[in-house]
Amino acid sequence: MVATATSTLLTSSFLPCQGLRVSTRSLQWRKNETNCTRKAGSRIITAKLELRPPPYSMNALEPHMSRKTLEYHWGKHHRGYVENLNKQIMGTELDGMTLEDIIIVSYNKGDLLPAFNNAAQIWNHDFFWESMKPGGGGNPSGDLLELIDRDFGSFEGFVKEFKSAASTQFGSGWAWLAYKANRLDVGNAVNPRPSDEDKKLVVVKSHNAVNPLVWDYSPLLTIDVWEHAYYLDFQNKRADYISIFMEKLVSWEAVSSRFEMAKARAAEREREEERRREEEEEQSANGEPVEMYLDSSDTDASEAE
Ligand SMILES: [Fe+2]
Repeated sequence: MVATATSTLLTSSFLPCQGLRVSTRSLQWRKNETNCTRKAGSRIITAKLELRPPPYSMNALEPHMSRKTLEYHWGKHHRGYVENLNKQIMGTELDGMTLEDIIIVSYNKGDLLPAFNNAAQIWNHDFFWESMKPGGGGNPSGDLLELIDRDFGSFEGFVKEFKSAASTQFGSGWAWLAYKANRLDVGNAVNPRPSDEDKKLVVVKSHNAVNPLVWDYSPLLTIDVWEHAYYLDFQNKRADYISIFMEKLVSWEAVSSRFEMAKARAAEREREEERRREEEEEQSANGEPVEMYLDSSDTDASEAE
């Protein structure tokens, strides 16, 4: 049987900033319309993405988020994203990548590849379920609260900004608290807060499936403001849903733990950059050519013009 393949060339220029573990050489997106063409020895290994359940039972967030909403939101919508993505990536070079890498590669500078929406929605929903807990709400504490006070003036200032982002996101989307680490330029996306200093907390909103991973921010908290997230419990009263989320559902333990990981990740990157700078200086001092990011042998004639 002969496979028909459609392909889109992904250039390497947007790959490195998010620390992808894929090759920086040109990456070919190739979707085989049949899976029957590859010999067993060269068959792409399929790593099927799984539907992860929320870390609590379907009725655990009642009365603030009903069992009916969870069963519908997780059981139908979230499940649909997983099933659709598995079909979309089967036999492509996205198959076998981590979910995060699929998101970053398929974001493609905002010119989305077909897998992006399903991949990002899976990640966003996993993150959303883990942003809540039974008996949640209240206030953050420790280092997180200190940075919230520094960057938003007070916890109340943060809540006001977060609620405003969630309620003013036009149509479907998400609001986020994220840690903006040590990079201003992201090869894969336009930074929505380029003039802000780094190493600070920011509130951002995103449309449809977009999330802060594509800007190289570290997400800490999110709320789903697609209508399917609240319509069964609150009808069209999005503001009421947002207030209940903040007052009764947020897991500040999860947010604090993500914050610690974000800081550790940022510190590790700084150390890596410092090591790279030192190596380059050493090479330069020894008269050795400094290794450039793009291997010239990867540049084809059209790119060289
Ligand atoms: Fe959703």
